[in-house]
Amino acid sequence: MKKNIAVVRGDGIGVEIIEEALKLLKTVAKIYKHDFSFNEVLAGGCAIDKTGQCLPDESLRICKESDSVLLGAVGGFKWDNEVSTNRPEQALLRIRKELGLFANIRPAFLFPMLKNASPLKAEILEQGIDLIIVRELTGGVYFGEHKTKKIENELVASDDMTYKESEIRRIAKVAFDIAKNRKKELISVDKANVLDSSRLWRKISEEVAKEYKDVKLSHMYVDNAAMQLCARPSQFDVILTENMFGDILSDEASIITGSIGVIPSASLNETKQGLYEPIHGSAPDIAGQNKANPIATILSVAMMLRLSFELEKEAKAIEDAVQKTLNQGFRTADIMDKDSTLLTCSQMGDEIIKNLS
Ligand code: IPM
Ligand code: MG
Repeated sequence: MKKNIAVVRGDGIGVEIIEEALKLLKTVAKIYKHDFSFNEVLAGGCAIDKTGQCLPDESLRICKESDSVLLGAVGGFKWDNEVSTNRPEQALLRIRKELGLFANIRPAFLFPMLKNASPLKAEILEQGIDLIIVRELTGGVYFGEHKTKKIENELVASDDMTYKESEIRRIAKVAFDIAKNRKKELISVDKANVLDSSRLWRKISEEVAKEYKDVKLSHMYVDNAAMQLCARPSQFDVILTENMFGDILSDEASIITGSIGVIPSASLNETKQGLYEPIHGSAPDIAGQNKANPIATILSVAMMLRLSFELEKEAKAIEDAVQKTLNQGFRTADIMDKDSTLLTCSQMGDEIIKNLS
């Protein structure tokens, strides 16, 4: 199979984790006889440094023309004072918007051997954690109007949280389709006791539910969902939520599984094109030290092979290789425990690759 992959290393640990993902993809291509070509593009803080623009036109064009995009992470303290429209994060938001990547799929699962890394008690973890957050990614407060004005001598800032029925309907369908193939239970998370956008979210998700009679839909307020994720995570199978709630809950869902460093994500549009990235950020504090955990990025590659390229066997082989490497007791610093072997980012990549064949 021939595929063109646009690669955004981005900033901080993005550079190192993408290196491991590329090593792995090249090995997969060799073993399974595929022809993957990689087109590295600048986006984020590094693009600001080199070109002045967080997302040069050329980078966006290459991403649009690719079969899918693999991204490390963008951002860092260095660019904190950049104007809001040219911050590194804007590069990511623009790629999401311009490619129409409205469906963000974020699985959170507990690798049993990583349970000591979880901040939750053993009794809670015994029930298991295996859930998927379906986050709307191109609407809501991220893309509403952002304004800062001076009114009566003081600054007033506002950010609009807007949702159209059609935006809610299409993401709800993605979540119902996933739920239909799992436990047939969908929890939609909102703040309908306060927000109009959430009340519309509830109404439309109820409407979509009529097309999925075999899936049980229930609703939960986001504050309660944040609490329930810690108290009883096993009650969740598929969560449907809007952009910002999904951003916040997915960080929480990842840390209860042991580390944000092992959770992948896929952002999909109406076609098979997708952007694949770990859910963690650029971690400038450990960047360049070969300490980062490449597993989230490597598992994002598995998602790319499965969801964009329909290469199920290869995707499964990567996931199995990650499991095996963890079972052998290899750990990066974020998931280290006393009886394990500490590896650097590149050593972890090498061990996973060894377990591939
Ligand atoms: C994420 C990140 C991004 C987001 C940032 C980097 C803009 O936190 O993918 O979760 O808020 O969506
Ligand atoms: Mg986030």
